[in-house]
Amino acid sequence: MCGIVGYTGKSAAAPVVVEGLRRLEYRGYDSAGVAVHTGRGMEVVRALGKLGKLSEALAERPLAGNVGIGHTRWATHGRPSEENAHPHVVGKVAVVHNGIIENHRELAHELIAAGARFSSDTDTEVIAHLVQQALEDGARTLHEAVRRALGRVVGAYAIAVLGTDEPDVIVAARHGSPLVIGFGEGEMLCGSDISALLSHTRDMVFLEDGDVAELRPGGATITTVSGEPVSRATKRIEWSATMAERGGYKHFMLKEIHEQPDAIASTLRGRVDLEASDVHASEIGVTPEVARAIRRVYIVACGTSYHAGLVAKYWLESLAKLPTVIELASEVANRDAMFFEDDLVVAVSQSGETFDTLGAVKAAKRAGAKVLAVANVLESAIPRLADGTLYTRCGPEIGVASTKCFTAQLASLLLLAVYLGRRRGTLGEAIAGEVLKALVAVPGHMHELLGDADYVRSIATTLANAKDVLFLGRGHNYPIALEGALKLKEISYAHAEGYAAGEMKHGPIALIDAELPVVVIAPKDATYDKMVGNVAEVRARDGRVLALATKGDEAMHDLATHIIWLPEAPSWVLPLLTVVPLQLLAYYVAARKGHDVDQPRNLAKTVTVE
Ligand code: G6P
Repeated sequence: MCGIVGYTGKSAAAPVVVEGLRRLEYRGYDSAGVAVHTGRGMEVVRALGKLGKLSEALAERPLAGNVGIGHTRWATHGRPSEENAHPHVVGKVAVVHNGIIENHRELAHELIAAGARFSSDTDTEVIAHLVQQALEDGARTLHEAVRRALGRVVGAYAIAVLGTDEPDVIVAARHGSPLVIGFGEGEMLCGSDISALLSHTRDMVFLEDGDVAELRPGGATITTVSGEPVSRATKRIEWSATMAERGGYKHFMLKEIHEQPDAIASTLRGRVDLEASDVHASEIGVTPEVARAIRRVYIVACGTSYHAGLVAKYWLESLAKLPTVIELASEVANRDAMFFEDDLVVAVSQSGETFDTLGAVKAAKRAGAKVLAVANVLESAIPRLADGTLYTRCGPEIGVASTKCFTAQLASLLLLAVYLGRRRGTLGEAIAGEVLKALVAVPGHMHELLGDADYVRSIATTLANAKDVLFLGRGHNYPIALEGALKLKEISYAHAEGYAAGEMKHGPIALIDAELPVVVIAPKDATYDKMVGNVAEVRARDGRVLALATKGDEAMHDLATHIIWLPEAPSWVLPLLTVVPLQLLAYYVAARKGHDVDQPRNLAKTVTVE
């Protein structure tokens, strides 16, 4: 995982780098460090813990200079510690790295045999040694030395390198991990994603695998690892820096929950055609012929995105009449997953970088399947590999626990089901029109739900001490039960489990007693009557029930211990609504416990390791 930043220009580098790291902290936050070229040589400050610790260390030992690199870490090789924090310095070279060097052991043995001494347990340090060795062996520039070093390593990397002898240069390179370079006025930056650079520039180049860039304040030259010049188009990014600010909310997660009405409106903008009862999505490259030729949809995803995929299965099967398989992307690699040429493989990923999802996409491509990405981060690895991308367009999501991207994924996947259904002739104008009208009304309903946030906060007190919580739902509400449980688990550290209510009798009913809170998703839809039965069974065993029910449902009101009201809405869009109070519930439980909601322990937002 990890986030990297580099700056060369006229400003003091350390504050710019730390500010960039702050925006990348979602990628990892167990230690951090900065190296700055002072004009006479390099100085490094590193600290164990979150970025605040690095800032404290820098306050004690300020680094003066206009060129610097920095890193925020999520440990893979070597436990979190100051020694293992980046940058790693060897001789005249400092390196920050995101990724994994697979042959680091062989390289380290070879370097140690040649006299090198290692001061960390990281795989990254071999890169610093190799670059230093290349300089000692006569490489004329840092760029050349880095290229020589990269010729030796196998694995994934995005790196930024400083060298003592070239005071205004940063060498940045990528292979398999993301890296963007930004063109400011008289200054150049690089970073793991665009949010780290946005307060300086919106003009960016997304490096390709194998690119090695030399950045100086006046511009960049890019070559391949073997030194052939390459040219990359500059893109103008429409996100603004303030989109990545907390804007008065205590946590990014709370802000992002409240941004959902706008996020959905943005996902839908320009895509919904109510007059024609159709969806415009030519960017996904699925022509009517292709849509008709698809025999099966195969969804791959991880975490919250997987739950969005589970909901999409209901829509794709009923609206587009497409058999839909959904699999955890991490499991695709554990067996001989079968993809076919007439499959549409849909990779759902907020970051577009998740290692396992990327791996599943590669397997699907090898089998000749058509791959569609549903992603939020522009130009990330999965969209680059896919044949087309439906961007969720909900702006940067910073909180580690995904919220607005989940509902934007749902909206995108419902659009996809309508789009495919219309092109395959399985979905008539009338139903398509109903679904789209319901989708367009979602932001309004979300506003209503968010208006009750204080009430959800008061209910959260009843869950604050629970060690276990069970979430139940049926049909399209079942994935929402899974998601509600995941949200609570991720940020409150309570054990929470989502279950298909129909399975309750096959196990979880044994857990029910007066202590176990059971959250039940029971809107007035096709699953309602059976859910009433489940609630009665829980109550008969003295269980406590928090029900999500449609406004005016007196029966549920009488049965449940606590109730959260849902607006009346067509069944198609209920998953986009039922999840909102569950997000708020998880948030308020965790906030009440005083947890670091945006950066929960042990988690990271972008999981670029297996
Ligand atoms: C991590 C994040 C989750 C996310 C999952 C998949 O576990 O903490 O919030 O759902 O990765 O990420 P993706 O970027 O592929 O949606």
